[in-house]
Amino acid sequence: MGNTINLKIFRLDPENARHEPYYQTYTVKTKPGMTVLEALFNVLDEQDGTLSFRYSCRWAICGSCAMTLNGKCRLACKTQISEYRGTLTIEPLPGLDIIKDLVVDLEPFFNNYRKIKPYLVPEGMPDKENIQMQEDVDLIEPHIKCILCAVCETSCPISWTSREKYIGPMALTKVYRFNRDTRDAGGKERLEVVRGEDGVWRCRTIFRCTEYCPKNIPITEAIQFLKRKSVFK
Ligand code: SF4
Ligand code: FES
Repeated sequence: MGNTINLKIFRLDPENARHEPYYQTYTVKTKPGMTVLEALFNVLDEQDGTLSFRYSCRWAICGSCAMTLNGKCRLACKTQISEYRGTLTIEPLPGLDIIKDLVVDLEPFFNNYRKIKPYLVPEGMPDKENIQMQEDVDLIEPHIKCILCAVCETSCPISWTSREKYIGPMALTKVYRFNRDTRDAGGKERLEVVRGEDGVWRCRTIFRCTEYCPKNIPITEAIQFLKRKSVFK
């Protein structure tokens, strides 16, 4: 018999008669290179077809498989099961409403995203291709790598306590990314959205977003940049 791990998984089905959340433990046989997402598939395919979780690319690109692994928000497809021994507790992302099991309602997260015009705003109608040189790309690297996974937002204690107000670290990172893009002319408008107390000033520089971001984006640094920009017009 090879190695095994116990997955203690948060369960909740609001449409089921059993309304209270509970934990259910499944034992999974592990193999080298196995990710947490693959272990969840083992449960789904071989033990319990009622388990719900989000995924798509399985390659740390789509951002849909974020969940809480032993108390830390991480991508299930990017996390090796070999990092854990004995029992791994798997829960949904914190601070958001639960739809079912490990699936949360990301609408508040994407509402914040929509608020900041997350696209390039051209200055008038361009009459030729807007070419970027490497130094232009360097300005927005690695912020351009954001995959909208919500790990930064759900790891941030300020976002937990001010969910209705704080625009959140992802939206602020996106403002940084678009405002520094040499093809964009919408910076002033975006800065107006985030310059108030529910924008950059609600960040208390706790650094959890930066610590947990699976794409290693220096989010806190970007927010500090926007704080300076919002003071010195
Ligand atoms: S900034 Fe990082 S943690 Fe936040 S949504 Fe983007 S990739 Fe995820
Ligand atoms: S399944 Fe796409 S990021 Fe994990």
